[in-house]
Amino acid sequence: MEPIIELLNQTKEWFDPSLEGIFDDSNKDFITAKASMYSLCSGGKRVRPCFMYVVGRMLNCDMDDVLVFARSLEMIHTYSLIHDDLPCMDNDDLRRGKPTCHKVYGDNFATLAGDCLLNRAAELVLKLVMKKPQYAYAAYKMFQCSGIDGMLGGQDLDLSSAGHKISSEVLHELHTRKTGALLECAICTPVYLLDGDSSTEILRVLTNLSKNIGLAFQIKDDILDLTADEETLGKTAGKDLRDDKPTYATVFGVERAKLMLEAELDSAYANLDSIDYYGFDSKELRLIVDYVANRDR
Ligand code: IPE
Ligand code: IPE
Ligand code: MG
Ligand code: MG
Ligand code: MG
Repeated sequence: MEPIIELLNQTKEWFDPSLEGIFDDSNKDFITAKASMYSLCSGGKRVRPCFMYVVGRMLNCDMDDVLVFARSLEMIHTYSLIHDDLPCMDNDDLRRGKPTCHKVYGDNFATLAGDCLLNRAAELVLKLVMKKPQYAYAAYKMFQCSGIDGMLGGQDLDLSSAGHKISSEVLHELHTRKTGALLECAICTPVYLLDGDSSTEILRVLTNLSKNIGLAFQIKDDILDLTADEETLGKTAGKDLRDDKPTYATVFGVERAKLMLEAELDSAYANLDSIDYYGFDSKELRLIVDYVANRDR
């Protein structure tokens, strides 16, 4: 088996069972809970949990605690996708090869499912923080990354730039927020759990790496939107052009977008070399960086 497939399978074995405990007997029969679980368990690639898994083990973290943060982050990511697909946002019918949450449960319950996942993500992380107050900074950073200074702010820029010409600086800012922020959270959270010290060298390198990966990830998403077919992608293709969304692929064209992706990857590999230089083994991180760049969905 290819090493990256093995790593993604290992991540799923570690991560997926943790989703069973999100709702309990007192709330699991709510339509909102069912809609939340529908989207959470509909076959995402689990890239963010994989980054947390890999960095957590690389730094020798307590992996049970990393799992709590990984689960909350994937819940936040899933909420962002449910809301992103709503008719008032990107109006998408297909996600992960299945009908989108609002197509199955209606706009009202899909909206509540997104709200519920965000709220539950906070509850689950704060429950751990009550036991281990040294994790408070990691929890704060997670919700900062998902809010107006991160993903949500990026979604604002995404919607407000549709139909407009924007500068490459704004496009960079848009991608850094809407996709980069949650990936940064995935990659850096294990460092915050380790010692809460945000000044270490490894944090600096991992933050730089996460910025390359965040940008590369969204440039690849933009390229796939223009070039891939719906069946492979598991989501509607060609939407960015149709909705007049400025993306790396629609603004610069696919060939230039590919060069920009390569440039981000070159920086990522330099940062991976620094990780080895500081005495950590970047082997698994390299596998997932390659996967992000070469994936077909
Ligand atoms: C999709 O993210 C949204 C973007 C940030 C581009 P993923 O490509 O990680 O989606 P799933 O979780 O695998 O469906
Ligand atoms: C969405 O970006 C990123 C989020 C914060 C949800 P896109 O709108 O390009 O994501 P897809 O293509 O629908 O997955
Ligand atoms: Mg969108
Ligand atoms: Mg979308
Ligand atoms: Mg897209």
